[in-house]
Amino acid sequence: MIKNYFQTKLTIKYLYSVLNSQKALNSLMFQLAEVEEGESGGGENLFDKAINYVKDPALKKMIEIHKLDEERHAKELKSLIRGDYYYDLEDRKDLSYLYLIEKRFFESLTNIRNDIDLLKFFSILKVLEERAIENYQLYLRTGFKKKDFIYLFQNIIKDEKKHLRFCDKVISSISSVNLSKKERIYLSYKEMEEEIFYQITIGMMQFHVDKNIFPNKSERLFWQLIKFSLSQGNFKKYSNIA
Ligand SMILES: [Fe+2]
Ligand SMILES: [Fe+2]
Repeated sequence: MIKNYFQTKLTIKYLYSVLNSQKALNSLMFQLAEVEEGESGGGENLFDKAINYVKDPALKKMIEIHKLDEERHAKELKSLIRGDYYYDLEDRKDLSYLYLIEKRFFESLTNIRNDIDLLKFFSILKVLEERAIENYQLYLRTGFKKKDFIYLFQNIIKDEKKHLRFCDKVISSISSVNLSKKERIYLSYKEMEEEIFYQITIGMMQFHVDKNIFPNKSERLFWQLIKFSLSQGNFKKYSNIA
C-alpha cells in the first residue's frame, strides 16, 4: 500500500516532466495515437471482422461507434503535436507498446470466425481500455497545465469508459462460453499486458534519463538515482503506473 503510494507519486512526478518537455510530449502523443489506431489489431481490422460476425444490430452499431471513436482519438492526439521534433523510437521496438501488444495478443488472432475469437478480441480491448483510462487519469493528476491537452484527455477518458461498457456488453452477449472461462481469458490478457506495460515504463524512464529531458541539475540527479535503483532490480512490480 505504502509502496504503491510512493510508486504512484513517483510516476506522477516523472510524467509531469515528460508532459512539460515538448520533445518527450510529442513522442508520447505519437505513441498514444499509434495505440489508438492499432487497437483494432494491426492492419487486420478486427473491428470490421467483429461487425461482420455479430448478428445483433445493436451490437454491430456499438462496435462501429467504438471503431470510429478510436480513429478520432488518434487524429486528435496527433493534432496536438507541436513542431516536428520528437524522439524517434523506430529502432526501439522494446519501447513500443503497440508492437508488443500486437506480438503477444494479435499474432494468433487475425480473424473473427467464432465466439471464442470474438471473446478474445473484446477481452483484449477491455484490458486496453482499462489501461487507457488509468493512464489518461494519471496525466491529469500531474497538474500539468496545457488546456487543450487536459480537455482532450478528459474527453478520451469519457469515451474509454463508454468503450469499457461496450466491451462488457459484447462479452456478456456471448452465451456459448461460461463465466469462469471468460474470466480466465480476461485475466490471462490482463497479466500479459501488465508485464508489457511494466517493461515499457521502466524502459521509457531510462530512455528519458539518457536523453536528459529533466530541466535542472537536481532533477537529473534524482532521476539518475531512480535509474540506478531500477537497474538494481528495485521497484519490481509496479501496478499503478503510466
Ligand atoms: Fe481510445
Ligand atoms: Fe477505447
